[in-house]
Amino acid sequence: MAVERTISIIKPDAVAKNVIGEIYSRFEKAGLRIVAARMIQLSREQAEGFYAVHKERPFFNDLVSFMISGPVMVQVLEGEDAVAKNRELMGATNPKDAAPGTIRADFADSIDENAVHGSDGADTAAQEIAFFFKPEELCQRTR
Ligand code: TYD
Repeated sequence: MAVERTISIIKPDAVAKNVIGEIYSRFEKAGLRIVAARMIQLSREQAEGFYAVHKERPFFNDLVSFMISGPVMVQVLEGEDAVAKNRELMGATNPKDAAPGTIRADFADSIDENAVHGSDGADTAAQEIAFFFKPEELCQRTR
């Protein structure tokens, strides 16, 4: 398995619930290393740009409004199979379908306020990392 990087976003609902640390703890216990992190209040334009792939979907406007309703915590996770590992930790999009013990099962209230975002593939991960961070902002974790 290759060492990969992926984007994780702790969404405004989970930031408001004060569970950033609990979510970070799950990444660390799964062997994922944080190599960049920043708390951001997204602008409407940024949120629309980030979720541009969903712009024709009926939930797009509500999703954008939710994503700008408070700060988000954005991090780059690195590790073996990081994209899939993060998706596994997150659980299904709808918390009602999320496996017990996953982040969404434990911290999300609904499909539209579902606590976390995670890149869904290697190509998306590269695009999403570049959306938030300059290459020099990604740290080397060599020890
Ligand atoms: P999606 O990429 O399908 O899910 P995931 O976040 O698990 O990769 O959808 C992106 C976000 O859009 C999702 O996290 C929450 C929101 N969303 C809704 O609000 N309603 C919906 O019916 C769907 C499918 C998504």
